[in-house]
Amino acid sequence: MLIRPAVMVAVIAAGLAQSATAGEPENASPAGSVSEPLQTVQGLGGSTEQPRRHFRVPNPAVLSDREAAEIYLGLADELAAVYARSGSRVVADYQTWQRYSSAPYKSMTHGRRYVSNYANAQARDYGRYEEAGQLPVGSVVVKDSFVVTDAGEITLGPLFVMEKMAPGFNYVTGDWRYSMISETGAFLGETGGEGAQRVEFCIACHLAQEDQDHLYFVPVERRVTAD
Ligand code: HEC
Repeated sequence: MLIRPAVMVAVIAAGLAQSATAGEPENASPAGSVSEPLQTVQGLGGSTEQPRRHFRVPNPAVLSDREAAEIYLGLADELAAVYARSGSRVVADYQTWQRYSSAPYKSMTHGRRYVSNYANAQARDYGRYEEAGQLPVGSVVVKDSFVVTDAGEITLGPLFVMEKMAPGFNYVTGDWRYSMISETGAFLGETGGEGAQRVEFCIACHLAQEDQDHLYFVPVERRVTAD
């Protein structure tokens, strides 16, 4: 009842593009070509450059599982579409994977961020939780998210990704490659690649779970036990 997926869309960065100063040959910067105007970018996103959810929940501090699930249902397609903008093939169809959280839950490490966990077929042992052992190469585990602010506003959140690489990829991470895609679809970085420093903090925290293949799993009360 509370949400209408179609409601709102306060595009904040309002009319930024349009005014594109019709290419004054203003010999300004020597490196003129650097400032590629926005036109080149226009094709990709259409109007929803930065989707912002502005429906509200009455009491953001206490979201029932049902409310959280309902909100998530309304956001799921948009989350998938936004993350897809990153061009990451690894997570392209993550919402078709097994979901291991029975309802979005407030991640204790991330304030008002509600997360849902998925794992691909290779990572099916994730569903055995503490009994999972080492997940095989090719396993991908992700956590998508949305945010509920103090004021009850709901916005999209980032996607957190762990991908099991071949032995020798990275000793410290247990051969996991961490990456993150922002709520606007920007690929923020990955272990051993571009923006690696942006995901270093992931490693540090997950390292504490080294004896469980660096995995934290879903809080017990929200676990889905797959077949
Ligand atoms: C302060 C500790 C901490 C940091 C930093 C952190 N995580 Fe996590 N992560 C957790 C916890 C705790 C969980 C279990 C679910 C939950 O409570 O959110 C988790 C779960 C996950 C999962 C689901 C797999 C699992 O472990 O069960 C993924 C994927 C993930 N994190 C990726 C990342 C990425 C990518 C980053 C960095 C961008 C990151 N995490 C940073 C603590 C952390």
